[in-house]
Amino acid sequence: MLTRIHHVGIAVADLEESIRLYRAALGAELIHRASSEKEGLEAAFLRAGDGELELLAALREDSPVGKFMVKRGPGLHHVAYAVTDITKALAEARAAGLELIDAEPRMGMHGSLIAFVHPKSLGGVLTEYVEE
Ligand code: CO
Repeated sequence: MLTRIHHVGIAVADLEESIRLYRAALGAELIHRASSEKEGLEAAFLRAGDGELELLAALREDSPVGKFMVKRGPGLHHVAYAVTDITKALAEARAAGLELIDAEPRMGMHGSLIAFVHPKSLGGVLTEYVEE
């Protein structure tokens, strides 16, 4: 079912400073920026070699990423896997006993269908499926 790691999500306190840091330190290239008032989230997608990073900054403390930052501070937020058929992937995840945060796929900030799996299902790591 799973093909490869699609991107790694990293929660940061200061998005602009983090973009500068990842560009300078890794030669990462900024490919996309988006924000969601509803999710209280601002994100920057960067390409670093073959890999992709999603830097996430909270717009509010009571948003999901805001709560994550309050509880755990900056750091690894989620690992995203590429799937070719997200509906099938979610059915297989359910069959494997994983607890889904998103019962149905939804449109992500990158223009792809996404769904999240509860961190308690996969070793404490929030897991995202991205259809491509
Ligand atoms: Co993501």
